[in-house]
Amino acid sequence: MQTAKNIGEVRLSTDLILDLKELTAGFPEHKIFMVFESNTWASCRTRVIGFRNVPEENILVLKPGEDNKNISQVIEVWEHLGKAGADRHSLVINVGGGMLTDLGGFAACTFKRGLAFINIPTTLLAMVDASTGGKTGINFRGLKNEIGVIRQPKNVLIHMPFLRTLDRENLLSGYAEMLKAGLIADRQLWDRLKAFDMTDMDEEILEELIWQSIGIKKRVVDEDPEERGIRKALNFGHTIGHALESEALHAGQPLPHGFAVAFGMITEAILSNRKCGLSPESVSDIRETVIRLYGEPPVTMKESDPLLGWMRFDKKNRDNTINFTLLDEIGSCRINQAGDDEEIREVLRLTKP
Ligand code: GLY
Repeated sequence: MQTAKNIGEVRLSTDLILDLKELTAGFPEHKIFMVFESNTWASCRTRVIGFRNVPEENILVLKPGEDNKNISQVIEVWEHLGKAGADRHSLVINVGGGMLTDLGGFAACTFKRGLAFINIPTTLLAMVDASTGGKTGINFRGLKNEIGVIRQPKNVLIHMPFLRTLDRENLLSGYAEMLKAGLIADRQLWDRLKAFDMTDMDEEILEELIWQSIGIKKRVVDEDPEERGIRKALNFGHTIGHALESEALHAGQPLPHGFAVAFGMITEAILSNRKCGLSPESVSDIRETVIRLYGEPPVTMKESDPLLGWMRFDKKNRDNTINFTLLDEIGSCRINQAGDDEEIREVLRLTKP
């Protein structure tokens, strides 16, 4: 009996073993490979190991963390696949947070020009963003996701019980991407997310909110998988957010991705007011919601030079202009909005007065 909910290749899975049995049926066991990160291996493996008789030597456990999202670990996966005889008919199953699904996906889709892969995200951030949409990659020269390709996973399995293994910081980091989904596409979702009690979480409601957020992402990606146009909507908050994240990493005080995006959404809401007519009430609504959940924006937001420096390296830029997705109202956005240095300095000043 099929009870799972699906949006395209993304499935809400209550029983990973059952779903993996079904979804891997076309692959011989010795052609199935699994990649974990060590913390996920410790806390999540019992829910995924044993769906078939995958040989132990086909399971690889990588080092976790953004610092390890690098070419050395990709080479480790390639070496492993090569030694174990992986070929074009093999399947890679990535189990972990966004770092792991990005890296494992990249290793899979570059090995022998591309193996199929399944993502099983174990963090909220990976569930609502990284694991879906086919962006794979690694960091390079201090720049996030500088090297990578877009290739859609064969399947993505969302398993809610993994969220019980996460601390509040981790949950909040993913929640920022859900807030973003509401802001760019669905006012009602934004209102529901604002009202949701993160300190006493109702798992059923959270599941609905996650599923709605994934639905928005999937709709956008299906329309524009290569990010030529509308997919850029998903970048709201990210032009400033990525710069902030890079600067924090550079300063040795890493800021979780979602926190950086959340603070970026305040700045970009102010810019949206200037350039796209977002109402002052909506700017205050966004600012107050972010500060209530994530605290005050960090002091580094006062220093616009380093942030502008990072923004110039942003993949989203074209012809030397810094590119934004901005809101005209909550639930509706405009892509390809260029901001000049003075405007950006000004809105950064207003974010952290
Ligand atoms: N994280 C934004 C996207 O997948 O396009």
